[in-house]
Amino acid sequence: MVDVETFIEDARAEIAQEVGDAEAVIALSGGVDSSTAAALAYDAVGDQLTPVYVDTGLMRKGETEQVRETFSYMDSLRVVDARDRFLDALEGVTDPEEKRHAIGEGFIREFETVARDVGADYLVQGTIYPDRIESEGTIKSHHNVGGLPERIDFEGIVEPMRDLYKDEVREVARALGLEEVISERMPFPGPGLAVRILGEVTEEKLTVAREANHVVEEELDEYDPWQALAAVVGKATGVKGDNRVHGWVVAVRSVESRDGMTARAQEIDWETLQRIQSRITGENETVARVLYDVTHKPPATIEYE
Ligand code: XMP
Repeated sequence: MVDVETFIEDARAEIAQEVGDAEAVIALSGGVDSSTAAALAYDAVGDQLTPVYVDTGLMRKGETEQVRETFSYMDSLRVVDARDRFLDALEGVTDPEEKRHAIGEGFIREFETVARDVGADYLVQGTIYPDRIESEGTIKSHHNVGGLPERIDFEGIVEPMRDLYKDEVREVARALGLEEVISERMPFPGPGLAVRILGEVTEEKLTVAREANHVVEEELDEYDPWQALAAVVGKATGVKGDNRVHGWVVAVRSVESRDGMTARAQEIDWETLQRIQSRITGENETVARVLYDVTHKPPATIEYE
């Protein structure tokens, strides 16, 4: 990247020129990439841009409220509550690829409704350089708004950050004055907590996953990980009071990485791990065990599905 200020100026000019007098949409996820792209595009074309945030129910704790607050200055912001529809679509789905597909489809459907409603001609996306590389290699069926251009005939797709790495995006976000919770936020996958839940996604597992991820993000912040996460990986026996119970098993993972393509599991001190364990089991009656994942990528992936 050239210097940040020049990048911002050029990106705004590029967006304004491409979109012209037309309408544009962007999917906001709460993450740093889409937030930064939305902020740039809104500066460039104002309310001609409709930022769309779909609350799939698979988001991190507090994410929806955070998005509402941060982007409240955008009059055109649309927040779609699709939580029930996503849970319905995921009922009984256990195959990882089918889950991703169901979420991707659902997301496109919700987004399409708004895009058609505002008569959007342009799609702005927060795609960054490593996304393009991963998509080309089809390492996983990527859920962003990947399938949308086939559904709606956009006049153009604008990707102002297509050549940036994550650390450069954060630099731009800081320069644009986005709050630290957003500019420094860890990457979070498009399909959300669903890829941190093995097997069927249920409301109960989602609650466990959401709380556990929150604990892990808080406790491991000082290690400055690329990503720190918790996944609900199954059930096992535990003891609560005088009873043996069959409770959830939560795996904790914290990795260092530059771009997510390879990653190293982080060494975390025992005291911190014990604090995480005690908070997760203490805050969730139904959790019987907490494990720490020591596997690098490869051979493991960062997420669990
Ligand atoms: P994996 O699990 O494949 O993840 O090692 C590499 C990086 O990509 C993120 N990830 C996704 N991001 N849509 C996204 O936008 C997805 O479907 C998706 N799956 C994984 C993951 O969080 C990690 O940063």
